[in-house]
Amino acid sequence: MSDASSGAIDSVLQEQRVFPPPMEFSKSAHVHSIDEYRQMYKESIENPEAFWGKMAEQLHWFKKWDRVLDWKPPFAKWFVGGKLNVSYNCLDLQIERGNGDKAAILWEGEPVGGMPGTGGAVHRISYQQLRDMVCRFANGLKSLGVKKGDRVTIYMPMVPEAAVAMLGCARIGAAHSVIFGGFSSQAIADRVEDAQSDIIITADGGFRRGQIVPLKQNVDDALTKTNRVRKVIVLERVGATPERPHKIQWVEGRDVWWHELVQKQSTECPAEPMDAEDTLFVLYTSGSTGKPKGILHTTGGFLLGVQSTSKYVFDLRPDDVYWCSADVGWITGHSYVVYGLLSNGATTLMYEGAPNFPDFSRFWSLIERHRVTIFYTAPTAIRAFMRAGREFVDRHDLRSLRLLGTVGEPINPEAWMWYRDVVGHGRCPIVDTWWQTETGMIMITPLPGATPTKPGTATLPFFGVDAAIVDRSGKEMAANQGGLLVIRKPWPAMLRGIFNDPDRYQKQYWSDVPNMYFTGDGARRDQDGYFWIMGRVDDVINVSGHRLGTMEIESALVAHPSVAEAAVVGMPHEMKGQGIAAFVTLDADKTPNEELKKELINWVGKQIGSLAKPDQIRFAEALPKTRSGKIMRRLLKELATNGQVAGDVTTLEDYSVLAKLRDKEES
Ligand code: PRX
Repeated sequence: MSDASSGAIDSVLQEQRVFPPPMEFSKSAHVHSIDEYRQMYKESIENPEAFWGKMAEQLHWFKKWDRVLDWKPPFAKWFVGGKLNVSYNCLDLQIERGNGDKAAILWEGEPVGGMPGTGGAVHRISYQQLRDMVCRFANGLKSLGVKKGDRVTIYMPMVPEAAVAMLGCARIGAAHSVIFGGFSSQAIADRVEDAQSDIIITADGGFRRGQIVPLKQNVDDALTKTNRVRKVIVLERVGATPERPHKIQWVEGRDVWWHELVQKQSTECPAEPMDAEDTLFVLYTSGSTGKPKGILHTTGGFLLGVQSTSKYVFDLRPDDVYWCSADVGWITGHSYVVYGLLSNGATTLMYEGAPNFPDFSRFWSLIERHRVTIFYTAPTAIRAFMRAGREFVDRHDLRSLRLLGTVGEPINPEAWMWYRDVVGHGRCPIVDTWWQTETGMIMITPLPGATPTKPGTATLPFFGVDAAIVDRSGKEMAANQGGLLVIRKPWPAMLRGIFNDPDRYQKQYWSDVPNMYFTGDGARRDQDGYFWIMGRVDDVINVSGHRLGTMEIESALVAHPSVAEAAVVGMPHEMKGQGIAAFVTLDADKTPNEELKKELINWVGKQIGSLAKPDQIRFAEALPKTRSGKIMRRLLKELATNGQVAGDVTTLEDYSVLAKLRDKEES
């Protein structure tokens, strides 16, 4: 039997294994048993307003809401008439509860000064200190003319100041738009334009795998493509030393040093009472059209969604040290590095750099040194650690861990088992959490003290989440039949729209299946009602847990002077989950060659960011199209996956195109 087929059989056997929650864990958990979960779930679905109204009492409100929910499908308003402030909830409320001296943020920088395994610079920031930093920064923003309702762009490394910037915006009612530091200058310019943002907060650079990421330079380049921005706030992170000269450009009148901005500011800044439905942030994510869209999240519902899920899914206790390895540039960083944790008064660890710097023991060394109790990461990272070998893990004392989580992409049962056995020593429950930028909060997940888990499934819906598997007409599928994953009722942290494009919200999310929110994912439910996510069924691909639109990459490719047409599809990739295959036709006077391949790959990196670089470029004389001229992506996907096409090709315009593509593949 080949390795591949025995792997597949192992995987099936592992899928059938059931792990009850450890008894010790259940005893002190927020939800102790599956029966308790089922009872609470039933109540939350039968009477969502009573359920969420009660949950919302845990937050601080300047003014209580008049109504929990106003639902005019597909438009929801939560906590109508309520007034609150997210930064107040994450800081002042925690201090009032006696947590002023508790660590809000623990941070570790990437560069290691001493011996390997000793880690980098560490900062411990208490709730009181964080409040002071946020107030000063918020006052600094005000001094630059930032007002309630403005959009502020944040393009920062993983440093505490990234969280300070977010909370500072929230304090004065400005909406932030965080852009992941791996995106290119073009991507920054596009997002700044779309968000109509005239302030950018960045840093002179950040550290990643021992290199300096030139964040400020990327911003400078972006600002040659748009003239909307009037102020750039620059945090000094990497500095310049004789051993490490790092020059940045400075534009007088436009650029402002962070430290100079906050120096003279007061540590008192009143938290702006925001309407529950006021925008908290915009976050750009890829969809099935060319340009990423700005997902809109509001104040009350979002905060409640992330506060309640953090509490129940991570089963937070007062002495936890929680670490989510996601960057704040993604929704996971917004919801489960910053807002969900701080609104629970928890300690959240931030790490600046790469998992394999200086080697693959970095994460485990961090867990050991900071006594991390809850660890939340992506399946891609787990697969990379598996490949690197367990010796990197075994060198460290990981007994502080009590809960492990994953997010971002389907986790294969082998990786799940490795995570459980090698990292968790079989002691720690695993929460495989399914959700999206649009959902704002975790939607399908085990509750660690209650839900028996099986490797590879995100198990059951969170309270109030009416998830189902349906066909295109909305009819529910029988057990174990694949279909579309939808949500049938509103939930507090749901997106409220797409920035700058109000019509698209309804069309994009509430039209494919009548009267239901369509997630874009395919899935099945097993005989126990557990959800098994199969992946996207639209033109979105998931590379290492990062979401990319095929059309976005195609647009980048056709912008190259040699390219005539391009079609991009996802293909299975052992490490990344999905890889990117690009089929490209060239202008008549251009000839395919290896040089051009490399050039095109780098070109996409420049247009979008390194994360979007194709794994494969395949030159073709023509692309397979239907008689009506549509590119047949299904065939390309099959070709990229299996090296051949077995499916129905009766609507294909020109069979010979396919034959040529296949011949190229085989040669
Ligand atoms: O396909 C699903 C996959 O990631 C998509 C959402 O991507 P994004 O908006 O970038 O948010 C990622 C972090 C929340 C989903 O449509 N996905 C996310 N979590 C899981 C998952 N697929 C399977 N299992 C998961 N746990």
